[in-house]
Amino acid sequence: MNSAKQVILRQFKEKPNQYISGELLSKKLNVSRSAVWKNIEQLRQTGYEITACRNKGYLLVGEPDLLDIELLQAKGIYYVESVDSTNLAARQLAEEGADNFTVITAEEQLAGRGRHGRNWHSPKGKGLWFTVILRPEGVPPTGISSVTLVTAAVVADYLSANNIPVKVKWPNDLLIREKKTGGILTEFKGEPDRIDYLLVGIGLNVHHRTVDFPDQLKPLATSLGLEGEVKLKRTELLLAISGRLQQAYNLYFNEGFSLFQPLWKKYNVTLGREVKVKLPNGEIKGKAIDLNESGALLLQDESGTVQTISYGEII
Ligand code: BTN
Repeated sequence: MNSAKQVILRQFKEKPNQYISGELLSKKLNVSRSAVWKNIEQLRQTGYEITACRNKGYLLVGEPDLLDIELLQAKGIYYVESVDSTNLAARQLAEEGADNFTVITAEEQLAGRGRHGRNWHSPKGKGLWFTVILRPEGVPPTGISSVTLVTAAVVADYLSANNIPVKVKWPNDLLIREKKTGGILTEFKGEPDRIDYLLVGIGLNVHHRTVDFPDQLKPLATSLGLEGEVKLKRTELLLAISGRLQQAYNLYFNEGFSLFQPLWKKYNVTLGREVKVKLPNGEIKGKAIDLNESGALLLQDESGTVQTISYGEII
């Protein structure tokens, strides 16, 4: 943000709920009234709500919900304003030796990544885009298959407790009224017998209005704000969710998924439904009848046989 805009914001902060004349601002900034107006316009574009009144000047009536960089950094969370993908940035941090439970977040992602090579739309200031680096000790890759389900269940539980009725769809979707409001992309580096690090990338649409989604996503996607009032600021959401995840991951890596199975079931919209699952080598149709103790989906196919599906995507 340039210093002219910072000076304007400081004036608003010093005189809350008061009009500030264009004349005063132009004197403070030593620029013309039209240059003041241009800066006010730019502030509006970044989310500040500023009304103008002919003989009175400008009044600040609303501020954007920006991430609180100082608070995040004080809590040890890495912040970058703009990044290709927090998962890619996290991978680099992990390669440089970042500790277990390092978190990195960004205001925007220019190449946010979804599952199966898809893009993840991550506009500035609208959502929470963050990645958690995990280094579980003594856990083989088979022991991490349900970390995505743990993540989804914990996020849904926290948001539901805050009157935002988020549900989970196997394996990685967060939904409100059947529309996608978040997703999880889990990646790892390791050997057959050990994990080097795990990256759990979480995307949550928070303040998007319908116009903020690209056309192809409009019928499928939603945000917390579109479905109800979001009383929490994004910084609070991030701190609360990442704190709960840290506790949950510690439990999960020590005790296994079975502790989380009831929580996942409580919020799930998958079980009991006829579904089609895309597998690495084809598709399978059937009824989702249960989730086993390691997080695999039990699907009764058209011949009545129960198939155990550990990886896939419901389409
Ligand atoms: C999906 O549902 O397809 C998964 C979406 C995961 C998006 C998050 S946003 C933060 C992290 N960084 C990324 O590039 N992707 C994940």
